[in-house]
Amino acid sequence: MQKKIIIAIIINVIILSAGLGIIGHLTINQSIDRSLHSRLTLAGIIANNIDLLLERSLNRLYDISLSGKIDLKDNNWKPEKEALQIAYQYSIFTDGIFLMDRTGNIVLTYPSRLENHENLLSNPYVSKIIMEGKPVISDIHTVEPTGKKVIYAMVPLKSKHGDIVGVVGGEIDPTSFRLSQSIEGMPREPNTYLEIIDSHGIIIVSNNPKRVFLSSDHNRFMENLIAQKKPEIRTCHRCHSGAGGKGDERSTDILAFAPLKMAHWGVSIIQPEKDVFAPSEKLRTTFIAFSLGSICIALIIAIGMSKSIVKPVHKLIDATNKIADGDMSKSIAFGGIDEIGILSSSFEVMRVKLADSLEGLRHYNVQLEERVVERTKQIKASQKKVENLLKMVISAEEEERKRIARGLHDETMQSLSALLMKIDMCSKMYAEHLPSEKIDEMRNIALKTLDEIHSLIQNLRPTVVDDLGLEAGIRWLLDKHLAEKGIACDFNVMGAEEKRFNHRIETALFRIIQEAVINISKHASAENVFIVLQYMSDSIAVHMEDDGKGFDAADVLKHTDDVRGLGIMGMRERAYLVDGKLKICSTPGNGTRLSLWIPLPEYGNKHV
Ligand SMILES: Nc1ncnc2c1ncn2[C@@H]1O[C@H](COP(=O)(O)OP(=O)(O)OP(=O)(O)O)[C@@H](O)[C@H]1O
Ligand SMILES: [Mg+2]
Repeated sequence: MQKKIIIAIIINVIILSAGLGIIGHLTINQSIDRSLHSRLTLAGIIANNIDLLLERSLNRLYDISLSGKIDLKDNNWKPEKEALQIAYQYSIFTDGIFLMDRTGNIVLTYPSRLENHENLLSNPYVSKIIMEGKPVISDIHTVEPTGKKVIYAMVPLKSKHGDIVGVVGGEIDPTSFRLSQSIEGMPREPNTYLEIIDSHGIIIVSNNPKRVFLSSDHNRFMENLIAQKKPEIRTCHRCHSGAGGKGDERSTDILAFAPLKMAHWGVSIIQPEKDVFAPSEKLRTTFIAFSLGSICIALIIAIGMSKSIVKPVHKLIDATNKIADGDMSKSIAFGGIDEIGILSSSFEVMRVKLADSLEGLRHYNVQLEERVVERTKQIKASQKKVENLLKMVISAEEEERKRIARGLHDETMQSLSALLMKIDMCSKMYAEHLPSEKIDEMRNIALKTLDEIHSLIQNLRPTVVDDLGLEAGIRWLLDKHLAEKGIACDFNVMGAEEKRFNHRIETALFRIIQEAVINISKHASAENVFIVLQYMSDSIAVHMEDDGKGFDAADVLKHTDDVRGLGIMGMRERAYLVDGKLKICSTPGNGTRLSLWIPLPEYGNKHV
């Protein structure tokens, strides 16, 4: 989560910085454009100033030319002198003003000079003005043989008829203050050259006096621009000596050029590029530093903010983990009105409710356990009662069987014996009246009834067990129910010699074996039955197996409430009441195996 917050803030900062970067880049470019444009404008302003100066100077010459006082043929030079004097005052013509006739001869100068007879026809500017009749401002002209540098400003001198009769001109010393004042007062920066160039690329005026009359570094380029009267701003290269005389070094300059209208001159401003762009570079550096600073501050704020957000979340996670581990004791509420504070308050409400619910559950659980214990006690008591009732029922059944057997034996059989005796007496006393067949028939019925009652008494309560013991009882059962049907019985006794047991154990064993034997005879269709009676020191066991058709023992044992299974259910109950264990294994087609184990009373059989 902390990483996500930091990444989100960084992305935002990057997007913001990119936006600011684009704006900054555009602003810096605008600043560069403005810097360049300001230099071009400055060059233009200087050019305009010089144009104005030159125009005013030409006008002074025109004042002479158009004054109507000039007549080169009247040999009266006074008016001409006055005109030249007036024009000379306060003009830029530091080297004087002159009148020249059509043949190029200087006829008058002010201030007057000795070499008035000088002929300037060979001067290309003179011939040009005489030919074309247009004012001229020359480039730098070297006067031979003195080698003096001079600039000529000339206007045509026309007659009343408009013919060119001569020239009015002025000479300007390029090094004079009058011309150089045009660049005076302009901002001066080191390594910046502010110069006036003539049409041959020669420097007329420079803020660096050493460069005056030298050829400009870019004279060819300047010549073209002057010829085209085209302002220009561009980069150029400057060669200069390296520091410590290490050879030539090249640096990049910005050249701003503005042409003049009045002369074939131009104004150039050459300044190192780094100086021109210094404000922009400063702006760029400030902007980058500001951006980096902003990103760093944003990062620190992002980390701080993310920590302040994530810390309570971690605390919340720890607290919820404790709750998950079951520890409800610690409060989760951190306070605060932000989302985390509200969330922690909600969790706290949940914790309190959960703790209450768990407490309630614990309480219910204790109550439930108490009720389970109580119920278990009740069930055990009921079970005990049922057991006792079962015992009572079984013993009552046995008692009832005994009572019925006794009654049949003592009364019914006695009565039948008395009836037989009476029949015998009657057959002897009334032999001639009673047919002997009838007497025999009656006797046979009585004897048969006696046999049946005897058999009934044996089934109800076989006296053989009471009289002769368990083994004899089992043999009697096998003879009576199986051997008579032709089922082969293999009965074996293992262990110690026959013992007599508690009456209840003997009765239980006999009844269980009786039911098993009757089941074999009724359901098994068996041919062989194997029985083992095993005496052990502390218990007695019976194993029975038949090779009959078998049955689904699991199904029968499952449905103990089924009316079908009363016999097997009775076997289990009798075994249970003497703490014994009964196991019946059978599957259809595989015969049936029965195992019965009963502990003897002196070894902890508490029921007996
Ligand atoms: N040895 C056996 N061989 C085959 N089937 C048996 C055997 N013993 C029991 N069964 C089957 O188990 C069923 C349940 O026996 P159980 O003794 O419980 O009832 P019953 O003999 O049918 O009736 P009751 O014994 O109540 O007169 C019998 O109906 C019979 O199908
Ligand atoms: Mg049965």
